[in-house]
Amino acid sequence: GKDPVTVLVTGAAGQIGYALVPMIARGEMLGPDQPVIIHMLDIEAAADSLNGVKMELIDAALPLLKGVVATTDVVEACSGVEVAVMVGGFPRKEGMERKDVMSKNVSIYKAHAAALGQHAAPHCKVLVVANPANTNALILKEFAPSIPEKNITCLTRLDHNRALGQISEKLDADVSDVKNVIVWGNHSSSQYPDATHATVNTVAGEKSARELIADDKWLKGEFVARVQERGAVIIKARKMSSALSAASAACDHMRDWLLGTPKGSWVSMGVCSDGSYGIPAGLVYSFPVTCHNGQWSIVKGLKIDEFSREKMDISAKELMEEKTLAYSCLN
Ligand code: NAI
Repeated sequence: GKDPVTVLVTGAAGQIGYALVPMIARGEMLGPDQPVIIHMLDIEAAADSLNGVKMELIDAALPLLKGVVATTDVVEACSGVEVAVMVGGFPRKEGMERKDVMSKNVSIYKAHAAALGQHAAPHCKVLVVANPANTNALILKEFAPSIPEKNITCLTRLDHNRALGQISEKLDADVSDVKNVIVWGNHSSSQYPDATHATVNTVAGEKSARELIADDKWLKGEFVARVQERGAVIIKARKMSSALSAASAACDHMRDWLLGTPKGSWVSMGVCSDGSYGIPAGLVYSFPVTCHNGQWSIVKGLKIDEFSREKMDISAKELMEEKTLAYSCLN
């Protein structure tokens, strides 16, 4: 069989980590015939809990799982890693200023960048999940210069999947028949979920979602707001943030990146901007991408109307501000 791939999950004792590691060990991220070794990192305060997760993984007797490391040592965690899913971070607590949260995360991502740069496999592919996801990825990219910047991404697939879900509910269509929504920008409430180019597979063939919905007011208003606010609505309902859908989206992101997107469809990923669609180069911004042979590329040439342009720029502006704030935390 294939040689195992070593996958790092940081923050593995947290709620997303708990949902994510069994998915990885069942082949949902790298494929059903790909053995894995999972490295789990968390902080000292969570060491017991992390060890408990390791015991449960062993008790699940998963055939693809060829090894588990549970550690609080960043170097041990990063060693030989080919896929890294960065879920660990400092949460925003009540009464904390944005700057304080940013400052904590900037120092975590600077340290993790250095360890990945020195100890991970040179072709390691990185997905940042922890918030502020785009800016954490930006910091990681800046402080791990040995990792190609194309290999550093952040998660907006959850927002993308939420957008698919909203359209499928609206049209009472199977979610797998809906494709090519786009989430532009930051994984924050300034993100712009865009259904302009989305299509739905129907008995009469592929149709534009926009034509089927025939309600531009809904698409520009409620649809956008629902996707933007879904995370908050889930916190209200569960008294905890989304974890299973976030873990599932992380698997989708990595699987499509490594194994490719289906012909004729794209997905949303936070990637380093090359200046496409007028988004400042170097920002980590969510774009529509297709993936082949382990490489993503931004879908070019989509027509952007005035409404979309404005929303895309608002999110870019917020990311520029986050970047400035992150840099101010470094000094
Ligand atoms: P959680 O608080 O349950 O877990 C986070 C874990 O990270 C904790 O176990 C904590 O000890 C650990 N951690 C903290 N500092 C660390 C460090 N320096 N090194 C290693 N581990 C460290 O949080 P949850 O719900 O699992 O969410 C994790 C992150 O993902 C949060 O930042 C959350 O905002 C973000 N998130 C992002 C989504 C996205 O779509 N991009 C969706 C949902 C959550």
